Amino acid sequence: MPPSFDVRLDDLTGARAESREAAQDSDSILAGPPSELGVNKSPTRQNQRYGDDASPTRQSQHHGDGAWSTHPLPGDERTFYIETFGCQMNVHDSEKVAGVLLGRGYQQVETVDAAKLVFYNTCSIREKAAQKVFSRLGEFRKHPDHGKVIGVLGCVAQQEGEEIFERAPWVSLVCGSASYSKLPTLLAQLEAGNRRVTGLDTDTDETFETEMTRRDNPFRAYLTIIEGCDKSCSYCVVPYTRGPERSRSSASVLEEVRKLAGAGYSEIQLLGQTVNSYRDPAPRGKTFAELLVTVAAVPGIRRVRFTTSHPRDFGRDIVEAIDSVPALCDHVHLPVQSGSTRVLRSMQRTYTREEYLDKIALIRSARRPISVTSDIIVGFPGETERDVAETLSLLDAAQYDGVFAFQYSPRPNTASLQMGDSIPEEEKGRRLAIVQDRQREIQVARNNELVGQTFEVLVDGASRRPGQWTGRSSSNRILNFSSPRSDLLGQYIQVRATGASPNSLVGEQII
Ligand code: 5AD
Ligand code: SF4
Repeated sequence: MPPSFDVRLDDLTGARAESREAAQDSDSILAGPPSELGVNKSPTRQNQRYGDDASPTRQSQHHGDGAWSTHPLPGDERTFYIETFGCQMNVHDSEKVAGVLLGRGYQQVETVDAAKLVFYNTCSIREKAAQKVFSRLGEFRKHPDHGKVIGVLGCVAQQEGEEIFERAPWVSLVCGSASYSKLPTLLAQLEAGNRRVTGLDTDTDETFETEMTRRDNPFRAYLTIIEGCDKSCSYCVVPYTRGPERSRSSASVLEEVRKLAGAGYSEIQLLGQTVNSYRDPAPRGKTFAELLVTVAAVPGIRRVRFTTSHPRDFGRDIVEAIDSVPALCDHVHLPVQSGSTRVLRSMQRTYTREEYLDKIALIRSARRPISVTSDIIVGFPGETERDVAETLSLLDAAQYDGVFAFQYSPRPNTASLQMGDSIPEEEKGRRLAIVQDRQREIQVARNNELVGQTFEVLVDGASRRPGQWTGRSSSNRILNFSSPRSDLLGQYIQVRATGASPNSLVGEQII
């Protein structure tokens, strides 16, 4: 029997094929990283709802009517709680927001109850994700005397703008990610008692860099190298909510990597909605592949990951870099979205099925095996049975190591909104299940072939069961393994795979 782990359900690799129920709510099966925006089920801090007995412990200022408070935030009330929805970019943005707040003398707390400032960093990639924040905000209706300052950050903030104040008048701050560089000013306004503060511009060419970022994971550090998106996939809100592409200079990226290495981080994950569209703003700047190689050469850095890659900008130089630099992880997340050229065109993905498969062939031609994962949308307007069959045959051809599959969700401010939503939800669910079933078979076969092999694993979790640990290989596979050793967290060790399931391997430490 493989050990059952209670550790972290976020950040899993692989198709959530086993979760048919969850598949109805695509968000909840897709707790995961290597995704253009893979929705992360566990927020940075666990979901914290008000208990029925929750009562405001401090100030009883009522902001429910949206009134202009005359009460500034006094120093002794500087506590904040932040809950994150959505992708790794959001998780990392929350880390940076937390850094800004800590730098202003705030203290982070684990519950809404204990906090004076409550921030929700939101996701609007699919409707269900966007609804979550309104259900959180709704909780405050029951507690009009909560006395808290509430902020909505991220993609829902950008998308809904000041309408959030109408729907939830107790909200004081609405700020999209492209305006985070203004956060210190916005916070100063809140501290001065202003109860209607907004940061909603997307025309900035700034990236959000902070002096101090509080990172949640002690071993792996996220680092955003490119913000926004210049592609215009017809179904996607990101270009609207996160604004145009802005790359950070390679000099500033490298400076931060050196600091992170000095602080003991050994794994760096470079982030961007289209990370490989990175363009160094410096004259004669580095290409993305050159940046990867330079980051990997920083002393103390043992692993470099990057997500998410766009197929159009994925070239041979990236494969060559991975081939020649062992610290560059042998994993590429390369979302295809559909196996049908007809649907891809309608999605404005800028490549055909054949062109995409050529990229896969490029990756497979590497000297060392590189694992590949993908995102797929089913039920796009006008998708036929034949299109679905093409997606299934693409799964066979690509032989992915993991797939995040989603039901199409029409979003405001997107081109595909005009195309209607022709596939009924039930049928979308059926197609999702078919895709997941096929991918699960592929993963079972692929993972079974790995039994007997040895992987270098970065240990990042301990089970409640003694002697049981979990970690990740360079290829981003989860290995749940046994070891008689203690204090393995953060170490790189050798693990032999002894068994396989669709989404992970089991094994034992080689001593
Ligand atoms: N409906 C369903 N899935 C979507 N994605 C992006 N927009 C939508 C949408 N409107 C998926 C894509 C993307 C992943 C992060 O989310 O597959 O790669
Ligand atoms: Fe990714 Fe396309 Fe959305 Fe850009 S527009 S984030 S490339 S899905």
